[in-house]
Amino acid sequence: MGAQFENKGNQPLKSLEEWEDDLLVRYPEPKGKQSKTKVAYRNYTDSERVDTVREFYRLNHTFQTYDFVCAKEKEYLKFDKREMPFWEAIRFLNTLVDDSDPDTDLDQLQHLLQTSEAIRADGHPDWFVLTGFIHDMGKVLCLFGEPQWAVVGDTFPVGCRHSDKIVYPEFFDLNPDSQDERYNSKYGIYESQCGLEKVMMSWGHDEYLYQIVKDYLPEPALYMIRYHSFYAQHREGAYDHLLNAHDREMFKWVDKFNPYDLYSKVPVAPDVKALMPYYEDLVAKYLPPVMRF
Ligand SMILES: [Fe+2]
Ligand SMILES: [Fe+2]
Repeated sequence: MGAQFENKGNQPLKSLEEWEDDLLVRYPEPKGKQSKTKVAYRNYTDSERVDTVREFYRLNHTFQTYDFVCAKEKEYLKFDKREMPFWEAIRFLNTLVDDSDPDTDLDQLQHLLQTSEAIRADGHPDWFVLTGFIHDMGKVLCLFGEPQWAVVGDTFPVGCRHSDKIVYPEFFDLNPDSQDERYNSKYGIYESQCGLEKVMMSWGHDEYLYQIVKDYLPEPALYMIRYHSFYAQHREGAYDHLLNAHDREMFKWVDKFNPYDLYSKVPVAPDVKALMPYYEDLVAKYLPPVMRF
């Protein structure tokens, strides 16, 4: 770390996908299918990659405080940034290009289609396919000027103690909430098994999209969207003490979704044109013609 990132300032990752590539290093296989010879995260040798990801998490864990999340919710949940027809929002999202190699990386639409097509190929209901297709639309936050650490990265509850099962837990020492008595106990401002509905999560693309589409999709779809980056829970079970019975039921869907998100990336680009008629009908079936951001 250090000098090499100074001019990158707030945006250490070359692309948002660098975070997702790193997830693949941490979780090389789907839940329940892990082989005995687990690839240890710290054995990863591409030092520059690890440094950019480390710096990204240093920022994320330092600045995602309870107050920060309150401020972002106040700012974004007014939905006064932009009104866009759905397909314009997709085009807008696809303007999100960064310094990554354009020859090897898929654009946002391609990742979304690979996720949703893998879900469709397995014969899941159409709302599940739609969930795969839209799940990362909240990344438009980047285009509204938010730093990477407030858009992507593993999410976690704020207002209670940070679990040491969250990636790079040592960086939470830099987070003012970890010195704050209101927020640094096991339950913090919450109660045992109070349910995630009452729990405020770190701010990012999951919560933002959930809030945009919450009136239009079935509940399992909403859990998948809202908690797909909550690895500390869906892969580690670190916050079992905050979940209620209903959350546990719904997290079966989050578990079902995760492999499609993480392991559906293939180097062959999907045939966007051929797929469009199906997705146009699907979007029209569930979502309003104009979406508010
Ligand atoms: Fe995502
Ligand atoms: Fe994704």
